[in-house]
Amino acid sequence: MADEIEWEPKHRRLGLVGRLGCLPMLAVVLVSAIVLVVAWRMISSPTLFHVPPGGMAWPNAIPTTEPGPLPTEQPLTETPTQSPQAARYEAEEAYVWLGEIESEHDGFSGSGFVNYNNSAESFVQWTFEVPASGKVTLRLRYANGADSNRPMDILVNGQPDGGGLPFESTGDWSDWKVETVEVNLNAGPNIIRATSTGSEGGPNLDYLEIRY
Ligand code: GCU
Repeated sequence: MADEIEWEPKHRRLGLVGRLGCLPMLAVVLVSAIVLVVAWRMISSPTLFHVPPGGMAWPNAIPTTEPGPLPTEQPLTETPTQSPQAARYEAEEAYVWLGEIESEHDGFSGSGFVNYNNSAESFVQWTFEVPASGKVTLRLRYANGADSNRPMDILVNGQPDGGGLPFESTGDWSDWKVETVEVNLNAGPNIIRATSTGSEGGPNLDYLEIRY
């Protein structure tokens, strides 16, 4: 019996671990360590899982609020502006010959309007630039509280292109209306002059608007 025990092969007594040493155990420990390190790095990453209060989770996150609808029309400002569609020029900011800047009647735009003297040949004149030559619509906003017309000639670069406009009564000095006329403008600077032709002078003039 003692001989049998002595002759039993050594490798059978050592088993699998004994034969391969501790290699598999080391591999398992190594892989577990790698998995743990990767998991820890992901959890502690400031960009992956940390959401600041009220902030975004990561830089390319899509905002939750939709942008508002785009305005369909550019609002006209009170001061002279130039845009591809329209420009407004206040009378009280133009060159005035024989007239006063006033604001005593409501409803005007800007800081006031021009009260033409009660005489012929008083005028308001605007100088401005347009990017291209061509036909435009002039819109002259006015009030005429008198009973009769307050006719004016509209001169474009010294020529009576705009013809004569009647500027009929609006019923009250606080009631404003618009007279329109089509004219041709040059590319670059242009001069528009609205000259009264009657002895009562022009109406109260609020602004000149140009529509392309
Ligand atoms: C009135 C009115 C003025 C106007 C003037 C006129 O005085 O108050 O705003 O310009 O009449 O007849 O032109």
